[in-house]
Amino acid sequence: MALFRSSSTSLFLLIHIALLSTLSLAADPTVSYDFKLSYITVSPLGVPQKVIAVNGQFPGPLVNATTNNNVVINVRNDLDENLLMTWPGIQMRRNSWQDGVLGTNCPIPPNWDWTYSFQLKDQIGSFFYYPSLNLQRASGGFGPFVINNRAIIQIPFAQPDGDFVLLIGDWYTRNHSALRADLDSGKDLGMPDGVLINGKGPYRYNTTLVPDGLPYETIKVDPGKTYRFRVHNVGTSTSLNFRIQGHNLLLVETEGHYTVQQNFSSFDIHVGQSCSFLVTMDQNATSDYYIVASARFVNESLWQKVTGVGILQYSNSKGSAAGPLPEAPSDIYNQWSAMNQPKAIRQNTTASGARPNPQGSFHYGSINVTDTYILRSLPPSTIDGKLRATLNGISFVNPDTPIRLADLNQVKGSYKLDFPSEPLNRPLRRDTSVINATYKGFIEVILQNNDTKMQSFHMNGYSFFVVGMDWGIWSENSRGSYNKWDSISRSTIEVYPGGWTAVLASLDNVGIWNLRVENLDRWYLGQETYMKVTNPEENGETEMAPPDNVLFCGALASKQQDRSHKDSAGSILQGNPNLFFTVLMAVCAAVLVFS
Ligand SMILES: *[C@@H]1O[C@H](CO)[C@@H](O)[C@H](O)[C@H]1NC(C)=O
Ligand SMILES: *[C@@H]1O[C@H](CO)[C@@H](O)[C@H](O)[C@H]1NC(C)=O
Ligand SMILES: *[C@@H]1O[C@H](CO)[C@@H](O)[C@H](O)[C@H]1NC(C)=O
Ligand SMILES: *[C@@H]1O[C@H](CO)[C@@H](O)[C@H](O)[C@H]1NC(C)=O
Ligand SMILES: *[C@@H]1O[C@H](CO)[C@@H](O)[C@H](O)[C@H]1NC(C)=O
Ligand SMILES: *[C@@H]1O[C@H](CO)[C@@H](O)[C@H](O)[C@H]1NC(C)=O
Ligand SMILES: *[C@@H]1O[C@H](CO)[C@@H](O)[C@H](O)[C@H]1NC(C)=O
Ligand SMILES: *[C@@H]1O[C@H](CO)[C@@H](O)[C@H](O)[C@H]1NC(C)=O
Ligand SMILES: *[C@@H]1O[C@H](CO)[C@@H](O)[C@H](O)[C@H]1NC(C)=O
Ligand SMILES: *[C@@H]1O[C@H](CO)[C@@H](O)[C@H](O)[C@H]1NC(C)=O
Repeated sequence: MALFRSSSTSLFLLIHIALLSTLSLAADPTVSYDFKLSYITVSPLGVPQKVIAVNGQFPGPLVNATTNNNVVINVRNDLDENLLMTWPGIQMRRNSWQDGVLGTNCPIPPNWDWTYSFQLKDQIGSFFYYPSLNLQRASGGFGPFVINNRAIIQIPFAQPDGDFVLLIGDWYTRNHSALRADLDSGKDLGMPDGVLINGKGPYRYNTTLVPDGLPYETIKVDPGKTYRFRVHNVGTSTSLNFRIQGHNLLLVETEGHYTVQQNFSSFDIHVGQSCSFLVTMDQNATSDYYIVASARFVNESLWQKVTGVGILQYSNSKGSAAGPLPEAPSDIYNQWSAMNQPKAIRQNTTASGARPNPQGSFHYGSINVTDTYILRSLPPSTIDGKLRATLNGISFVNPDTPIRLADLNQVKGSYKLDFPSEPLNRPLRRDTSVINATYKGFIEVILQNNDTKMQSFHMNGYSFFVVGMDWGIWSENSRGSYNKWDSISRSTIEVYPGGWTAVLASLDNVGIWNLRVENLDRWYLGQETYMKVTNPEENGETEMAPPDNVLFCGALASKQQDRSHKDSAGSILQGNPNLFFTVLMAVCAAVLVFS
């Protein structure tokens, strides 16, 4: 099945898009989507379970847009709990109001809808969206988000013959509320029940390990052609090794930046990360080939079931895939060499990204660092009688009133701007403690993983340069090993247990930006904070005003009008009055064309 399914764009929306591109006052076209989140029952591992679907689809539909497009997504919450959708890697320029995390947005209650509206300013690449609250991603709600380059900008490789998305991730047959209950009672989530590829279970490569009758993913290709595979780890907490039997993976992109192109026989993709590979169909099609995503850095004999298997099928294939899976990397107990792979990812400095000038034209290596933050994660421990995870000794408590909304409405005490710049020798605590970041500063963040598991960290609103990664404890001397020339710029990076990763970011984007672990268990237990980046001379130009449809909650709950009976068109109008005429025209056009 080709993975770019047509989205559920309705007739109304098609016309809506067409008219918007001609009528909108802004020069940049708008793409619009309606997302309805609800539960559906599926059995990816043979056990019927309720998963979170978007428009009845699991995984959700593709958001397909182009650099500088305006994106309008109306989200309807038909779940039984609060919802926020987040779009990691999309750098909401001056606009953290659309970021979809609790520090910036009030949640969308059940039976309500809310319209996200943002611009894909100067961005390209492969991303995915998901629900950000309360482990919901462990039950689904995720889907791919592609930002195509503008036609005038060349990509640094020949146009591929096709494009596939693979959403890979560990999976539990327990739902997110059951997993939450485990964490709430102080338990570990334990071993996942499997790995899904595009919401489907493994191909039956072994009759003992895989039950009969599971639906599995098949990618159909033609011999000799080259395809782009956009692979995302959408899982809960397991690092995965991705490989395609008999085929090289030519890495070309990680989260919106082009890499120096290199072949790998297998590639580690950590939770929350996205990579693009070019794969050439240069084999002889004696049989189909396995596509594998297996748990990494675990005892394989215990974790055998935590393996996703799909099928790559040539149009001239002579038979089914059979025999053992292609081997996983043999360095599982030699993580020293495993770190060589991420260290080898470098940016193609001459390639154009979203803009015509080369990606390497921002000379990050010659900019002086203004602030250094050493953020240390520890294994979860008990605070106030509950299991919690910490960064610099603080387990984050979400504010009742989102941070910037509190500022603008003179709500005091909703958060503290005192997040320490290094681990302090004091008892662990729960707190709503935020980083007081310097607008236009150039920060160095050292992620020091003193936990026992691989973690990946994500920064909203920015992409950062990954300048260093090593084992042991970071020290000032470690700066000598930094790559100051062609580090990759991305938004989610792994941090090995017992090791550190150093990233640099230029704080030119005003807003409140979440800095978090992507591993859902640790995130749920509080391993996150925010960076408050505000212009001290706020002049109404550096940061967008709250949108007209901003939701109120916490100390501002009384300002919220009841919108529970609004339909989606109504809320689009509320979000953007400019659309009024478009909607009117669209309705007229629909009547004319289809009557
Ligand atoms: C995505 O959009 C691009 C550019 O408009 C278009 O060429 C491509 O066919 C679209 N892909 C899908 C799967 O809709
Ligand atoms: C999730 O699982 C729990 C426990 O098995 C069950 O009580 C609950 O109804 C389930 N929720 C959904 C939405 O399926
Ligand atoms: C299937 O897996 C089982 C359990 O690991 C193993 O003992 C068996 O050899 C495998 N079968 C084949 C045909 O590889
Ligand atoms: C990658 O491998 C393919 C064969 O699968 C080969 O054609 C190509 O030249 C290799 N590219 C690089 C940059 O090594
Ligand atoms: C096709 O490839 C397989 C595996 O590489 C090899 O064993 C076989 O001999 C090849 N067949 C032909 C006809 O080239
Ligand atoms: C992996 O697990 C198996 C089964 O429990 C055990 O026998 C083996 O010693 C483990 N291997 C390592 C390296 O820990
Ligand atoms: C880097 O990008 C350029 C396009 O500017 C491309 O021609 C070149 O092949 C790329 N090099 C590598 C090593 O990926
Ligand atoms: C960085 O700092 C050094 C020494 O403090 C100074 O000489 C240099 O001019 C600074 N560079 C920039 C780009 O500000
Ligand atoms: C935040 O940083 C700014 C600039 O460094 C400083 O003026 C301000 O006092 C700080 N705020 C707090 C609450 O520490
Ligand atoms: C955590 O830190 C302690 C004290 O520095 C050290 O002994 C231990 O090895 C570290 N563990 C990991 C996994 O980093």
